[in-house]
Amino acid sequence: MVTRTSYDRPGAADAPSAPSTVLVTGGAGFIGSHACVELLDHGYEVIVVDDYSNSTPQVLTRVERIAGRFVGAVYELDIRDRRSLSAVFDRHSVDAVVHFAAHKAVGESTRMPVRYYDNNVGGTTSLLSAMHEHQVRRLVFSSSCAVYGDAGGGPLDESTPARPASPYASSKALCEQILSDVCRHRPEFVVLCLRYFNPVGAHPSGLLGEDPPGTPDNLMPYVAQVAVGRRKRLPVFGGDYPTPDGTAVRDYLHVMDTVEAHRVALDHLADAPGMRVFNLGTGTGSSVLDLVAAFRSVSGRAIPFEIVERRPGDVPELIADASAVARAWGWRPTRDLSAMCRDAWHFQQLNPHGYAGSARRFGKEE
Ligand code: NAD
Ligand code: WQD
Repeated sequence: MVTRTSYDRPGAADAPSAPSTVLVTGGAGFIGSHACVELLDHGYEVIVVDDYSNSTPQVLTRVERIAGRFVGAVYELDIRDRRSLSAVFDRHSVDAVVHFAAHKAVGESTRMPVRYYDNNVGGTTSLLSAMHEHQVRRLVFSSSCAVYGDAGGGPLDESTPARPASPYASSKALCEQILSDVCRHRPEFVVLCLRYFNPVGAHPSGLLGEDPPGTPDNLMPYVAQVAVGRRKRLPVFGGDYPTPDGTAVRDYLHVMDTVEAHRVALDHLADAPGMRVFNLGTGTGSSVLDLVAAFRSVSGRAIPFEIVERRPGDVPELIADASAVARAWGWRPTRDLSAMCRDAWHFQQLNPHGYAGSARRFGKEE
């Protein structure tokens, strides 16, 4: 179902002419919404499809407000609905697709494995069919460090064998396999798989950020909700890991750096045929307590925490060797842990109850 197009709206004619049109699946989600801003800021025409299964339409109003430009069209649909998805490609001359739409909660995937395979793998095959039908051959795919599983310590490069440890991780590894096969047998197809480590933070405006439903699974939104007083204390999962302070170490990456890498990826899609895989990370590990200390420092708030049992499935350390992407495109992240915490805190302060609770604050457009 088309919900709106820029052609219907006042001001659309003033939009700068864009070099090309990018379809963003999952464009209302955490990373997708920041990517839409990045692409609009760089002159792309952006078409969004999202079923809002983990997001809200008002996010896209904020995207447009930040960018000062309209998203070309927004379609509320499940990408597994092949007919509706095909109709989107009929209506727009799409040059490339950035595919974020997926379910992403590792724990939930262990309770609902079929739902995860159906959405993540089924969504991807449906998208590939529609792309094939419409001769759209350029794709940037959201993959994850989750495909590495428990690969041991030290920075992981892209040659690390996949050992997915959850249905979510397996669904991403399967999508990579499918994409690789498609590229092998259809040489005109070009795919960049980006394996993100831990994207966190928010747009510096404080208008866009991470707004998980219910109790956050992930560390940064949990810490932010403790700082703002929505939750009493942070459970720190494990204090006996073989790490400098005993808490688990991850490679946190600012969401703005993450989406800049996608824009750069679009510029480089045509550099080489076939499928290429790149890690997106900083190469720097931070422990849970490092992140808590950084957040405390930027927010000036106490972050009470309690060390509890390890979370099943967690590994002591996951750090990217992100040198391949730097060598290939010269792309390097520029924002440190302090900036990640500062921007996450800004979003949390402006939106203490997430997007829904802050609707009035931002006036009529929401
Ligand atoms: P998100 O849940 O915020 O965004 C995903 C968006 O896709 C949501 O708006 C959701 O409504 C939509 N969606 C889901 N299934 C859909 C379907 N069948 N049809 C249409 N829309 C659908 O997640 P995110 O954090 O922005 O993650 C984006 C992508 O990056 C995902 O593919 C995720 O697996 C991957 N990834 C995320 C992280 C992370 O830590 N956030 C890390 C590595 C990889
Ligand atoms: C980070 C650290 C927790 C919450 C996940 C997915 C991965 C990828 C990135 C999608 C861990 C600890 C957390 C809390 C805590 N996503 N923690 N208390 O697990 O590294 O990666 O996001 O592809 O697939 O698994 O991220 O933010 O959940 O946890 O102590 O309340 O914080 O144990 O060490 P994770 P996270």
